[in-house]
Amino acid sequence: VQLHIVSKRKDLPLRVAKQTPNGLAILGFFIEPTITTKSSSQHWKTNSTSSPMPATEAWKNLTKYLSAIKDINSVVEVTEQISIDDLLGDVDQTTYYRYNGSLTTPLCNEAVVWTVFKEPIQLDEDLMMMFPNQTGYRNVFRPPQPLNRRTVYVSKSTVPRSVKLFVLLASLCAFSCHFHL
Ligand SMILES: *[C@@H]1O[C@H](CO)[C@@H](O)[C@H](O)[C@H]1NC(C)=O
Repeated sequence: VQLHIVSKRKDLPLRVAKQTPNGLAILGFFIEPTITTKSSSQHWKTNSTSSPMPATEAWKNLTKYLSAIKDINSVVEVTEQISIDDLLGDVDQTTYYRYNGSLTTPLCNEAVVWTVFKEPIQLDEDLMMMFPNQTGYRNVFRPPQPLNRRTVYVSKSTVPRSVKLFVLLASLCAFSCHFHL
């Protein structure tokens, strides 16, 4: 399962953006189900060892509105603030893949700059399954497409700038201190 955050180029109407190679930008986050058992509700089972904490509260708030959304014309009044940051929790936002690709739904226009983050969001399986169960959308995934001439770029994991600057200052200081001795 993936969370898609879709943005359209501000200078183009949607109809034109869908016909433009970089008309849309989508941030994709994998969602990995965790199984929480009653006896160990403080723990979550997962395949990876360095997983972030699940951002459960925000997802509970969001999913409770799903049953009220019957179709595209449904209107629900969301009373609490649900920010994307809350839904992402402390997922690593520095390591991602980027490529020029397409919409996952017909007409699958090649109009999307994709950014897919490596680290998944950990989400309780029951909450995750509310999306297909309550919306009725199942198996809507598109099978893998051939790469053809595309390049998939991987973000370069770097030491944060502030740390680098600190190291630089520290070594400058070390140098000048040494010099004055
Ligand atoms: C996407 O396509 C544009 C235009 O060809 C190119 O400049 C850009 O580098 C491509 N981006 C990626 C991530 O491949």
